Amino acid sequence: MPGASSSRLPGFYDLDLDQRLEELSRTAGLTPESRQALRGAAGLTADQAAHMIENAVGVFGLPLGVAVNFQVNGRDVLVPMAIEEPSVVAGASFMAKLARAGGGFVCRSSPPEMIAQIQVLDVPDMERACARLNSAKAEILKQADNTDPVIAGLGGGARDLEIRVLEDTPVGPMLILHLIFDTRDAMGANTLNTAAERLSPEIERLTGGRTHLRILSNLADRRLASATCRIPANGLAFGDFSHERVRDGIVEAWAFAAADPYRAATHNKGIMNGIDAVVVATGNDWRAVEAGAHAYAARGGRYTSLSRWSVGAQGELIGELELPMAVGIVGGATRVHPAAKACLALLGVSTSRELAEVITAVGLAQNLAALRALATEGIQRGHMGLHARQIAIAAGAEGDLIERVASQLVVEGAVRLDRAQELVEQFRVG
Ligand code: MEV
Repeated sequence: MPGASSSRLPGFYDLDLDQRLEELSRTAGLTPESRQALRGAAGLTADQAAHMIENAVGVFGLPLGVAVNFQVNGRDVLVPMAIEEPSVVAGASFMAKLARAGGGFVCRSSPPEMIAQIQVLDVPDMERACARLNSAKAEILKQADNTDPVIAGLGGGARDLEIRVLEDTPVGPMLILHLIFDTRDAMGANTLNTAAERLSPEIERLTGGRTHLRILSNLADRRLASATCRIPANGLAFGDFSHERVRDGIVEAWAFAAADPYRAATHNKGIMNGIDAVVVATGNDWRAVEAGAHAYAARGGRYTSLSRWSVGAQGELIGELELPMAVGIVGGATRVHPAAKACLALLGVSTSRELAEVITAVGLAQNLAALRALATEGIQRGHMGLHARQIAIAAGAEGDLIERVASQLVVEGAVRLDRAQELVEQFRVG
């Protein structure tokens, strides 16, 4: 896959749609088909959609933007983001620029191991059942491997079994078997679910119990991705705000989220603004990633911040983020949806782990954008300009009128639909 030769595209923001695509083709060597797909002209058709879900009646569009300036593990990456919320793409791009000055994002990921759960009820003798499962482990793993010879052929496959006994549930004790399975470049839900279903008769035979649910867990805590960044001293200064003031303000904002679940939910939502946008753009299952993120945020028994911000020895700001990242680059919509295919080509990632790492970097950048704004001039100032454009469009403005109406709304400090409608009337007449 091509990917970008550089993610520094100064002035990209000021180009029109065609010029931006032109620029992407130049830096990332996109094919004409990819360009068309990104533009939406050759996106998902209603006919394709009808093969994807039941009762399809059409397709639903979302804005697709490209975040610039990202450097992940030394590689420049242009990041596609599908999202309806203003400020997200701009925020990520700006923070990626600040992080770039400190070496960009350093990201890591664990092997792509997913967990399938098999619930076993009515086990006559727990101790004996556990012992028999343990002795049959090699055989069970071999059987699980047969579920997906393609993944096994690529070096993936069943890795381990974990046995858990839940003594005290509302229906009494139960044995839970975890099958750990390396899904390589696939998200792997289908493989895991199939493996769990196929293993079930053998598990019943070994335990003497009754298997009930057989399904993957979205708390994919064996498939983690992490990102860190450093914003060097003076990197955060702007306007009347010194670097130290912004930096310490960000650490204080993070401490609030670390200590309080009400704030942590919003803090993590800001992280997911960035993460979901890339997950959606690449045709991945954003509900799975959301579920994994929030469950991971509560893994210590109390819901808390997914990220961590601190001050380094040279006065720099250090950010860290770690969370489960169950995404793939093969299977599902990733290779069916034309725009998702084009987005993967633009990213230039060649493994699911690489994609997981880029996505985590974007989550950290997005968190920084939100905290920097909240800790200084507040979120509304930057937000209002873009929000005003949406209000102008909702009020019926088109073409040049959108910008005129939006600017006037911001100047008046009245970003409201009724005022926008008045202005549209007024400007049209004048
Ligand atoms: C809005 O979509 C996201 C923020 O609320 C995140 C945060 O508060 O950290 C700005």
